[in-house]
Order: sequence, then C-alpha cells, then structure tokens
Amino acid sequence: MTKHRIKTRFTETFGIEHPIVQGGMQWVGRAELVSAVANAGALGFLTALTQPSPEALAKEIRRCSEMTDKPFGVNLTILPSINPPPYSEYRSAIIESGIKIVETAGDKPQAHVDELKRHGIKIIHKCTAVRHALSAERMGVDAISIDGFECAGHPGEDDIPGLVLIPAAADKVSIPMLASGGFADGRGLVAALALGAEGISMGTRFCATKEAPIHDNFKAALVSGDERATDLILRSYRNTSRVAKNSVSTEVRRIEALGKSFSEVAHLVKGQRGREGFENGDTNYGVWTAGMVQGLILDIPTVRELIERIMEEADRIISTRLVGLFQPADPIPA
Ligand SMILES: Cc1cc2nc3c(=O)[nH]c(=O)nc-3n(C[C@H](O)[C@H](O)[C@H](O)COP(=O)(O)O)c2cc1C
Repeated sequence: MTKHRIKTRFTETFGIEHPIVQGGMQWVGRAELVSAVANAGALGFLTALTQPSPEALAKEIRRCSEMTDKPFGVNLTILPSINPPPYSEYRSAIIESGIKIVETAGDKPQAHVDELKRHGIKIIHKCTAVRHALSAERMGVDAISIDGFECAGHPGEDDIPGLVLIPAAADKVSIPMLASGGFADGRGLVAALALGAEGISMGTRFCATKEAPIHDNFKAALVSGDERATDLILRSYRNTSRVAKNSVSTEVRRIEALGKSFSEVAHLVKGQRGREGFENGDTNYGVWTAGMVQGLILDIPTVRELIERIMEEADRIISTRLVGLFQPADPIPA
C-alpha cells in the first residue's frame, strides 16, 4: 500500500483518490475494466460508442454501477463520420443514468458541453493542441486531458510530443489538466506533475491488464511490442491514427503512399473489423489502437496492482530519489 496520497486539483475537483485516469477506449472501455479502475481509486470511463445503442449504454452504466460504488464516467467521442451515431441520444442516456463525469473528445463539443453542464455534470475534454485546450476552457469544461504525439488513437496533425505539449499547455490553461499519451508507470506520473499536469490519463497500459475485456493475444502483443511497434495511418486524409503495427496497418500505409483516396482503405480500417479482432484473438485481423508506450509495458497485472505500483513508484521517486539529489550549496566565498 502507498504511504501517501498525491493530492492535486484534479483529485479534489473530481473526488478521486489517485491522479490517474483510464481514458475512453473504443471496444475496451466496458464495465469490467472501468469498475476495476474505480475500485482501485482511479477514474475510469465507459466508452459510449462501444455500445450499439443509447439503450445499451444505459444498461452498461447500470452494470458498471453494480460492480463499484466509486465514481466512474462515460467518454463521448465525436468524430467525423459518414453516418454519425445519434450523439444527442447517447448524451441523454448518460444524463438520465445519473453519470456525474464525462470525457468528451473530438470535434466541436459545445452543444454537448452546454447540455451536460446544465445537468451539473463535470467535463474533461480531451484534445491534442494548446489552442484546442484553450477553446475548450472557454466553452466551460472543468478539466483538459491533453494527448501528446506519443498517444494511441488520434494524436492530431501537429506532432508535438508530450515533453513540449504538456508544459506549453500548462503555461496557458488555468483549469486542471491531465497529461496523456505515453504514460505507464510512476516515472511518467512524476514527470507529468513536474511538467505542470495534475494527473495522468492512460489508454494502452490499461489494455494490458487482467480485467481489460480483450483477447489475451492482444495483451501479449502489447508486452512483446516495443516503442517502435506502432504505425501512423490515415495521415493523408488528415485523420491521423496511431495503431499497432501489423499486416493491415502496413497495407493501409502502402495504399496511402500511392496517393489513393480514402475509399481504397475504408474496408481495412472499419471499426467493426477492429472489434472482431479484439474478440477472435487475431492481432492481424484489422487495425487496432495502441501507443508507443508499448515499449514500457512488460507484464499484465490486475488494475489494482498497476495503480498501486504506479503510486508506490511515484512516492519513491519524489520522496527518495528527487529529494536525495538536493545537496547543500557550497558556501559562497567571501
Ligand atoms: C484501444 C484504444 C481505443 C481508444 N479509443 C478511444 C476512443 O474511442 N475515444 C477517445 O477519446 N480516445 C480513445 N483512445 C485514446 C485513449 O483514451 C488515450 O487518450 C490514449 O490511449 C493515451 O495514450 P496511451 O495509449 O499512450 O496511454 C483509445 C486508446 C486505445 C488504446
């Protein structure tokens, strides 16, 4: 057990024990994982669009509530889509289910932010650029989660790694901010705090836990993959996505390099194909989201073991290693 708690504006605003968040994850952010994160004292998000309908989301929220009495939230990701899902109905399901924290991600969240706030829901908006963080702050969100270029999923098009993005955002954003992308351990947590964040959000690291509801082959692939085991795809359509490097991502990149239109790769990147892969265990079945942080993932612990390990490591670094680096300055010669 950790000796201390780390208290930040994030833990206080959201009433969470540890400054650690499990960000929304399509096909992975289900009740098994989210309740385990909540029970370990961190903040997990169910992923709204993983559920086939707003009614199914309401059911999943009820299921998660039966598995934990700690707070958890729902992620609502708004991405450009040929057939957009009924976002406002998903939003109503979230509100009517009594959820108190929502993670928004993607384009133009204003209407959602307004409506969620009207119902007293706290919002963490995830974005990948300082200018987007500032515009979300103006919209009235309660916190920002900022994803550096390392992240799994959508890093945006600016390619600014966390080491610059996080302090650049911290200089300008006044509300609490989580650092996201590339975090897996206590070293990352301490670094994020040093850079001006009030906590970390992780995706890929939570996929390699016992409770993550995906086939074991994917967890094993995350353990064996190193920091180079990702591909950036869909860059030529300005919808860049970081996924695990496999035969399908290689094929997508080959077609993109030929200057072909999106319709030529659409069948390869279909979300449904990713979901089926997560279930059937074939890591080359479709594209699946994963980050560079694979290079720091060496095992498959339970969520509780992971959170406790991160907090203990952070405690050791802050109270022993960093403090130990300080030496009395040499007296200034007279
Ligand atoms: C399998 C997977 C699916 C994801 N799906 C979503 C999603 O639907 N919406 C979203 O906002 N972020 C999504 N993300 C991004 C995470 O919430 C988080 O921002 C990202 O994983 C942080 O980078 P990391 O993986 O290096 O920790 C996904 C990440 C993973 C690994």
